[in-house]
Amino acid sequence: MQPQPLIDPFARPITYLRVSVTDRCDFRCTYCMAEHMQFLPKRDLLSLEELDRLCTAFVGLGVRKLRITGGEPLVRRDIMSFFRAVSRHLGDGLDELTLTTNGSQLARFAGELAEIGVRRVNVSLDTLDPEKFARITRWGRLPQVMAGLEAAKSAGLRVKINAVALKGFNDSELFDLVEWCAAEDHDLTFIEVMPMGDMGEEARLDQYWPLSDLRASLAARYTLVDLAERTGGPARYVRLAETGQKIGFITPLSHNFCESCNRVRVTCTGELFMCLGQEDRADLRAPLRASPDDGLLTEAIRAAIARKPKGHDFDYSRQRVAGQMSRHMSHTGG
Ligand code: GTP
Ligand code: 5AD
Ligand code: SF4
Repeated sequence: MQPQPLIDPFARPITYLRVSVTDRCDFRCTYCMAEHMQFLPKRDLLSLEELDRLCTAFVGLGVRKLRITGGEPLVRRDIMSFFRAVSRHLGDGLDELTLTTNGSQLARFAGELAEIGVRRVNVSLDTLDPEKFARITRWGRLPQVMAGLEAAKSAGLRVKINAVALKGFNDSELFDLVEWCAAEDHDLTFIEVMPMGDMGEEARLDQYWPLSDLRASLAARYTLVDLAERTGGPARYVRLAETGQKIGFITPLSHNFCESCNRVRVTCTGELFMCLGQEDRADLRAPLRASPDDGLLTEAIRAAIARKPKGHDFDYSRQRVAGQMSRHMSHTGG
């Protein structure tokens, strides 16, 4: 008999799980992390076997899409054995296994990921200027990511570029990014910068570039055709009639999309976050470790979904930052 699917208090079916497999990263993007981050002690992390057990339990409860995140997921040791293990669910409950990555390790892993059954990857890239790239990621170097993107393409992986829209940083590169993605045949999604991790309020507001403005700039040069299609994510898409390419907009600040939320997040220590923009969480590590049987774990998951909040409270509209989360984005993987 099929178990009851996961439905939250707002009648939203939860079919998408994001799993952060590490809080570490080889970059230090200024909007995401402090330069000197205090990372979790390794002993607090779930083992890859435990993460697999968690994912398997969620798939058993109706999750059809798994996105592996971090920190940077590909810096976790032996991570391919985890991908290989969870890929056994593809076609047997799971429709999609994918990841969000900074691209730094794709040159090494793209081939294996494709072979395992990953079809597309989301790669974070905010600028095409090597000097600016080094500045925003602090530790990253653009040629390494470009090599990763080449490898992804050769392996037949579809690529979606995620660019955080940052005023005074990449607003001058809007058309360069769009044209480059068209030439490379990558999809492109812009994201409004969210107040995650403590950065001065003024700095946050200064860098906020509403996607309504970005959209208006795009419309001055291209014909934008709204697309009805949804990937189950928060992005809303348009097609540029002139180039045929698809551009996504993720607008947590200027347009709330929480009513169609289908996702929850697990961190590398087994905390389940029911919303990216709220503090409430549930510990899944204790029930996972308490018994080899999944009864307690399933119970804990259901109890947590039963209190999934309506949405985030991020808001910059009163010239101040509301709904700020003290944890960094790398804690939950975006
Ligand atoms: P696809 O639609 O499958 O390509 O994926 P996605 O957009 O769900 O995943 P991706 O990792 O590319 O997400 C991009 C970014 O959108 C995330 O890193 C977050 O910054 C943001 N995002 C994703 N889901 C949510 C959400 O539920 N709430 C908010 N506020 N932001 C989200
Ligand atoms: N606001 C919006 N997006 C962010 N990301 C990291 N920090 C933030 C933030 N404060 C993005 C990264 C990556 C994804 C995982 O989340 O650029 O694309
Ligand atoms: Fe690392 Fe991604 Fe955060 Fe940049 S945004 S520091 S690449 S986790």
